[in-house]
Amino acid sequence: MTDAQSSATQTTPLAKSDFSHETVLLYETVDAVLGKTPTKKQSKKVTGSQDKVSGIFVDATFGRGGHSKLLLESLSDDGQLFVFDKDPEAIAVAEEIAKSDNRVTVVHDSFANITHCLHQHGVLQVNGIMADLGVSSPQLDDGSRGFSFMRDGAIDMRMDTSRGQSVGEWLQTVEEEDLANVLFDFGEERHSRRIARAIKQMDSYTSTLELAEVIKQAHPKWQKGKHPATQSFQAMRIFINNELGDIDNFLQQSLSLLAPGGHLAVISFHSLEDRRIKQFLQRHSRGQYPEDENLPMPPVRPRYFSKPIRIAPSKAEVSVNNRSRSAWLRVATRTDTPYNTDPDELHS
Ligand SMILES: C[S@@+](CC[C@H](N)C(=O)[O-])C[C@H]1O[C@@H](n2cnc3c(N)ncnc32)[C@H](O)[C@@H]1O
Repeated sequence: MTDAQSSATQTTPLAKSDFSHETVLLYETVDAVLGKTPTKKQSKKVTGSQDKVSGIFVDATFGRGGHSKLLLESLSDDGQLFVFDKDPEAIAVAEEIAKSDNRVTVVHDSFANITHCLHQHGVLQVNGIMADLGVSSPQLDDGSRGFSFMRDGAIDMRMDTSRGQSVGEWLQTVEEEDLANVLFDFGEERHSRRIARAIKQMDSYTSTLELAEVIKQAHPKWQKGKHPATQSFQAMRIFINNELGDIDNFLQQSLSLLAPGGHLAVISFHSLEDRRIKQFLQRHSRGQYPEDENLPMPPVRPRYFSKPIRIAPSKAEVSVNNRSRSAWLRVATRTDTPYNTDPDELHS
């Protein structure tokens, strides 16, 4: 369970304009969100979307806009696309597009606030929502963002640099035991206690390369081809950005936001994310499930989603974009069952 990281060690700093993002599962995701849901078989041979589609769509993770740009090619003149990102640099790119395309509305916020933000724009329901979770290549490649253990920079790791605490600030005050729990829970790092102890013995938290070196020295088992700090960096990033909490909130809100027949398409990159999406779609597409084995009858649940499927990138894509190798796309279609705001349902 690890995120893809750039393997090249960069010594000369790159200009911001040098950072680009190669979009993963591009055609599969856009076809799915537009309702041209590919089957598992078809996903190997994707043709893209030719006909114009009207409606309101959301790209919950704009990044550098790979998915958004393709979707806009298929969106009719009266269609609308709301794009979200936490990252001010991604938002700046989105705003450039919105300047010349009045179908695009840019929201600098977490997708965890999707309902509130759409309501502010007078939108109660949408026809499709896509999300491509995790970090973008520009975030990883820019050492100054602090996500990379291969490039030096401040230990930041916030997606939204305009608010919140950086990882460096958090490390100054976190208890060793709490740090170990984060490394274990969000990085599945088996040597979390030993690594947490070494990190808490550091004098300062100002350099990602220093932090990576301390983790490397504390790690008793180095795996060939994988930096020993991979899982610890991923864990701290997931924690500081509340990534799993945001995903849970976002998925829950898709139930009330998607219009009947609307599509949800979510790409994940590691098992902690994919498991949540899978279980959410299973829970809301089965209708019934054995919640408590002691009950005489399983509880009847509304079926809010139909046809959940999982799509992997083609071999051809993996061969040209290494980052796609751990990606999974999950797609489902909203049924016409009205959303039940029963408080029990909200927390399920
Ligand atoms: C993998 S990239 C998306 C790339 C995009 N699909 C493209 O083709 O350019 C993920 C993006 O989602 C953003 N992001 C991650 N979690 C978010 C959240 N909770 N709310 C809004 N944006 C988020 C990150 O800042 C990053 O820009």
